[in-house]
Amino acid sequence: MDSSLLHILQEAQAAMSAATDPASLENIKAQFLGKSGKVTELLKGLGQMSVEEKKVKGKEINDLKVQVEAVLNARRDALAAQAMQSKLAAQAIDITKPGRQRGAGGLHPAMRTLERIEEIFTSVGFDLADGPEIETDFHNFTALNTPEDHPARSMHDTFYVEGGNLLRTHTSPMQVRYMQTHEPPIRIIAPGRVYRVDSDATHSPMFHQVEGLWIDQGVSFADLKAVFMDFLKKFFETDDLTIRFRPSFFPFTEPSAEIDMAFTSGPNKGKWLEIAGSGQVHPNVLRHVGIDPEKYTGFAFGVGPDRLTMLRYGINDLRLFYENDIRFLQQFN
Ligand code: DAH
Repeated sequence: MDSSLLHILQEAQAAMSAATDPASLENIKAQFLGKSGKVTELLKGLGQMSVEEKKVKGKEINDLKVQVEAVLNARRDALAAQAMQSKLAAQAIDITKPGRQRGAGGLHPAMRTLERIEEIFTSVGFDLADGPEIETDFHNFTALNTPEDHPARSMHDTFYVEGGNLLRTHTSPMQVRYMQTHEPPIRIIAPGRVYRVDSDATHSPMFHQVEGLWIDQGVSFADLKAVFMDFLKKFFETDDLTIRFRPSFFPFTEPSAEIDMAFTSGPNKGKWLEIAGSGQVHPNVLRHVGIDPEKYTGFAFGVGPDRLTMLRYGINDLRLFYENDIRFLQQFN
């Protein structure tokens, strides 16, 4: 090859191997093989040559063109391979790394307690009952012997919703619903959320209650005491506790009592804590649901499970339950 052609080939080789990306390589290609590229110009020049000269030069220039194209293609392949390499390197997965952790969820402490209470009561023959959180005035108050003008209504700061209904202020309306649809003997517990206009360290506008009800012939306060003691001992997994009944008032029970409990050993020994309201179901409540109070009697209670959870886990602020602070909740997983 003539030295001027060789020079062009070397120039093309140097320029192409200096190109570091496909776009600049294509620009360089244009400088040699494009419409007015160096090789193209040489080919154009053949027109002025004699037939003899054309034969020799034509072959040489064509060889040059073939070689420049070969250099170009080799560089294209090299750049493509490089691009693939760096893409693979960028997407590489280090299989020795631990991987993104997904925190395992767990039951909320309030739910844990509800499930525990359900388990304990169903294991001694109680059925589970349910009912709506948006209640009628009738089920929440009237059927529970609390008529319109009854002073006890003002003890429940009620959230009213449109249409005259309300957010149930206690789980007791579930007693009414159950007794309306079932004949004695009745033994149920009914856990759920309840709502009152109230908020401080020991009161939240939404909290939980578990309602208990046992209606049969000859069921008395003595049965309530036995059932409740048995429940608490199972719940706290200890025999070292005691309960006391304090006279109280609820429109739907007569007589009525507050239930307090205290541990008889351990760091909280002797500290009384109110945990439930209870009583013998009022004859008017039974009449409202068509049960004959001359034939059947029974007891009811409403426990505050959140109190039990606080006691069991040593939590002193009820609001922790509802703030959804993951650091708090994780301790119960
Ligand atoms: N419903 C009452 C309250 O929210 C608690 C209660 C007291 C429930 C006595 C009962 C009961 O079933 O017999 O304060």
